[in-house]
Amino acid sequence: MSLRLCSLAIAATLVCQVVLSGGTAAEPKGYRPGASGLGDPYFPSLGNDGYDARHYDLSLSYNPGTSALEGVATISAKATQNLSSFSLDLRGLHVSKVRVNGRTASFRRGDAKIFITPRHGIPNKTRFTVEVRYDGVPQPLGGPIVDDSKYGWLKTDDGVFTTGEPNATSTWMPCNDYPTDKATFDFRIKVPKGLTAISNGRLAGSREANGQVTYTWRGHRPMATYLATVTIGKFSTRSGRTPRGVPLYIAYDQNLPAGQLDFYKITSAATDYWTQLFGPYPFEETGAVVDSVPGVSYALETQTKPSYAVPVRHEHTIAHEIAHQWFGNSVTVRQWKDIWLNEGFATYAQWLWADRTGTKPVEKAFREVYEGAPPEFWDIVVGDPQRDTMFADAVYRRGAMTLHVLRKEIGDRPFFALLKAWAQEHRYENGDTRQLIALAEKISGRQLDGLFRTWLFTKGRPPLGS
Ligand code: TRP
Ligand code: ZN
Repeated sequence: MSLRLCSLAIAATLVCQVVLSGGTAAEPKGYRPGASGLGDPYFPSLGNDGYDARHYDLSLSYNPGTSALEGVATISAKATQNLSSFSLDLRGLHVSKVRVNGRTASFRRGDAKIFITPRHGIPNKTRFTVEVRYDGVPQPLGGPIVDDSKYGWLKTDDGVFTTGEPNATSTWMPCNDYPTDKATFDFRIKVPKGLTAISNGRLAGSREANGQVTYTWRGHRPMATYLATVTIGKFSTRSGRTPRGVPLYIAYDQNLPAGQLDFYKITSAATDYWTQLFGPYPFEETGAVVDSVPGVSYALETQTKPSYAVPVRHEHTIAHEIAHQWFGNSVTVRQWKDIWLNEGFATYAQWLWADRTGTKPVEKAFREVYEGAPPEFWDIVVGDPQRDTMFADAVYRRGAMTLHVLRKEIGDRPFFALLKAWAQEHRYENGDTRQLIALAEKISGRQLDGLFRTWLFTKGRPPLGS
């Protein structure tokens, strides 16, 4: 086909692109590449619109001596259009082979992507599998988003600690790296004997062969990619159940002195307390992974088991990360600009925890921020905080204040009913600010757009009583 012919019609242009990107034959009419990039205002290039990932099966092998990761990712997906080609997010790393439905597929690397062209187009609504073999040394991300900390795949003295939010899971596994494409995940992780590998879901077994141990973890509840995690190192583990019966798994870095904080006890108590307040625990297990990570002092609500870099030593951080299992992990933001729905809720939970334990009444926590926050705190528009300040203090604390103002406006019973209904109505799915406002109005029978406009979308410190 000549280039001139190609430019004659849009359909022909698309066919032409397929050919140029390595397709072996022109597809039947109506097949086109899945749009690369879902158009998130903060991360426009993340994700692909042409398919829905259903399940990830990861076989990883990690060598702490060389830092090299080898992986085979088998992804089960369903086409959401007639698909001639599609992309997966993968940043760095070397891809050696791609198969689609068992047959070798051509691929090329783009900026943080693998563009894959199967031999045959995939009809809309049909299921297919993609297998990607890859290897390399994953590189963490940095910059302003997470407070100038490194995040992603982080080396520790005895292994690895991973934190994916918002865009770093694709630095160590190929995926559709966007919160609206949830899937289930199985991980098989092979490490030298003596090390433990921990991931999301429940431990399904470990098998030793030739001085290596393979740990299998299964997560059968939908999970957003940014919540995927692999931790490797020398760990002491303890498992059991919370008093209300939720399975509990705690891994504690063996090189750490026994902490002042009892992760087992507090994780157990927080899981049960939030169950009473927010509704049934959404996942198959609760827990914690406590690791020592040079230069890092944060925690992430990785699904089923939050990951704590050790300088995190406050009970309220555990309460925060466990609350994220409902708000963030089960009900997940639809776009990253809605991040206050994760952080404002988890921070409000943290305040509820401090209130419950007699440390500080919620009203006092609110007052302290209202009176004590520096002027620049009030410059962040919490409902759309912009990419580089998406985890700014105000997203957490003004987000929590918004919920407190709402609670005072509508009363305790409707407010706590709203928290439960929000967790229930969007369980394992996504939600946005507009939907939260609509639900709050429905439950309270009040008109609340003014309150939310003032607290989420207007710069400056709101007057009280508005
Ligand atoms: N969501 C984390 C919290 O609990 C903050 C966070 C965002 C984070 N991105 C991260 C932590 C990356 C570690 C790494 O508030
Ligand atoms: Zn948080």
